[in-house]
Amino acid sequence: MNTNRGRVCPVERAGSLDNVFRRLLQNPLKILAPYIQEGIVALDVGCGPGFFTLTMAQLVGSTGRVIGVDLQEGMLEKIRRKIRETEFENRIALHKCEGNSIGVAEQVDFVLLFYMVHEVPNKDEFFTEIARLLKPTGKVLIVEPPFHVSKAAFESTLRTAEKAGFKHSRGPRILLSKTSILQRGQ
Ligand SMILES: C[S@@+](CC[C@H](N)C(=O)[O-])C[C@H]1O[C@@H](n2cnc3c(N)ncnc32)[C@H](O)[C@@H]1O
Repeated sequence: MNTNRGRVCPVERAGSLDNVFRRLLQNPLKILAPYIQEGIVALDVGCGPGFFTLTMAQLVGSTGRVIGVDLQEGMLEKIRRKIRETEFENRIALHKCEGNSIGVAEQVDFVLLFYMVHEVPNKDEFFTEIARLLKPTGKVLIVEPPFHVSKAAFESTLRTAEKAGFKHSRGPRILLSKTSILQRGQ
C-alpha cells in the first residue's frame, strides 16, 4: 500500500526538478563525480524525473549500471522518454516501488537519496532496507532541502540512520541543502 499519499512531490512539479536553473545551482556532475566510479552499481532512490539518474549513468560508464527507483510511475515515464534510443537505455533499470519497500534485490555500491527522505513516512524501515541493499564498502549520499527540513529534523533522520547501523560524516557542500555521507558501521 502507498502510505505516502499527500507527502510526495507530484509528477506535475517534475519541471521544477529538472531545468537549466537547477543545473546551474546544483551541477549533477560536480556533485556526484567524487562518489561514482566506472563499473559500479549505483541506486537512485526517489529518482523523480531523472535529474541525477542520467549523470549517474554517464559516470558508471558502459560497464556499470544504475537503478532508478520511484513511487510514481509518471516520474519513471519521464526518464524512460529521456533515455529512449540513447546509450543509457541499457544502463539504467527503472523500478516502481511501493511506499513501504524499495524492493530491489541486489546489493549496490552507491545510493543517492536526494530531496526524498523527508517524504518517507517510516524512516526506520527505510534505512534498515538501505543498509541491507548497500555493499559493506558502499556509501550513501543523503541530501535534504533547507526549508521543508529543519536542522532538528535532519539530525533526527541521521539518528534513525545510525539505529539502522550507519555511521555518518559531513557531506559535500551543496547549495540550498543539508547533506551527509552514510557508511555501514563496523
Ligand atoms: C522532491 S522529488 C526529488 C527527485 C530527485 N531525487 C531530484 O532530486 O530531482 C522526491 C521523489 O521521491 C519520490 N519518493 C517519495 N517517497 C519515496 C519512497 N518511499 N520510495 C521511492 N521514491 C519515493 C517521489 O515520488 C519523488 O519523485
